[in-house]
Amino acid sequence: MKILSIETSCDETSVAVVEDGRKVLTNRIYSQIDIHKKYGGVVPEIASRNHVMKLPYIIEEALEESGLSFSDLDAIAVTNGPGLVGALLIGVSEAKALAYSLGLPLIGVNHIEGHIAANFLQHPDLEPPFLTLVVSGGHSHLVMVRDYQTFEIIGKTRDDAAGEAYDKISRVLGLGYPGGPAIDRAAKKGNSHAVEFPRVFLEKDSYDFSFSGLKSAVLNYLNSKKMKEEPIVVEDVAASFQLAVIEVLVEKAIHCALEQKVDKICMAGGVSANSLLREMMQEKAKENGLALYYPAPILCTDNAAMIGSMAYYNYINGVKSDLYLNAVPGLKI
Ligand code: KG4
Ligand code: ZN
Repeated sequence: MKILSIETSCDETSVAVVEDGRKVLTNRIYSQIDIHKKYGGVVPEIASRNHVMKLPYIIEEALEESGLSFSDLDAIAVTNGPGLVGALLIGVSEAKALAYSLGLPLIGVNHIEGHIAANFLQHPDLEPPFLTLVVSGGHSHLVMVRDYQTFEIIGKTRDDAAGEAYDKISRVLGLGYPGGPAIDRAAKKGNSHAVEFPRVFLEKDSYDFSFSGLKSAVLNYLNSKKMKEEPIVVEDVAASFQLAVIEVLVEKAIHCALEQKVDKICMAGGVSANSLLREMMQEKAKENGLALYYPAPILCTDNAAMIGSMAYYNYINGVKSDLYLNAVPGLKI
């Protein structure tokens, strides 16, 4: 079954064709990062306008690259939430128009479930149940994937998402947008024990996250350095901040997997491209007898292939949409 999928929930305009939920035939991604960079973050209105201009061309490119035509497709899938409402609406409208005009089924996909499904594309033999750490610009979740349709949130952020914290700290350190890759790079040249920032574990046995206290601690540190007119070593602050985030993510995820009695742990979302997270999670997973899975960096950040994979599992389990499908900015798993 070949599904053409569309992803426009934030600042990537992406179109893919995925076969039977596992095989990527094409995955075109047009990133608007260079357009939003100068504003220090994504401007929703600008994102929507660029989706409108680019999407039809990206669909054409995707078909051309895969050597397919519309008549080869079996269904149309689209992210319908969570995300920026204007941005989501562009993808949803286009998908509805395509499904209607081609007489194909329409499948709405939850963006977070899509991030998790990126692991199915990377690891053809991976099957639920497993625990997933979903860490992106908008979400930090620990999700138990019991089967292809049963997702249970065990823990989530109470304030900033991990990627959001990276982006904000990167901005104050003058490292630019997006902050994750910039901090990842800078941290490699810094001392991660230069500043002991707090690790926020919340209540005992809670699998929730909180990164706003850490963010304030970094800001307070920078302000006090400036007031005392002392030099700031950006790489050291980046490395120390990063270690404080990653230690908490790894510790909670491993503990949660053991408690849930699963033997597999997956990572998903933009922050799962982080080199220290991959390294530390690998080490701890091995120590605890857990198998670790994560997608290639291009499948960690927003892309339509992950939506095509999740759409397949929705479809074969009877979950389809109709032409009343709407963008739902706060769509829950
Ligand atoms: O999954 P994603 O592309 O979009 C959302 O659904 O939010 O994630 C984007 C987030 C951004 O906050 C970005 O800074 C972060 O992922 N990110 C990283 C890395 N690459 C992207 N964070 C840490 N280290 C990275 N290497
Ligand atoms: Zn995302």
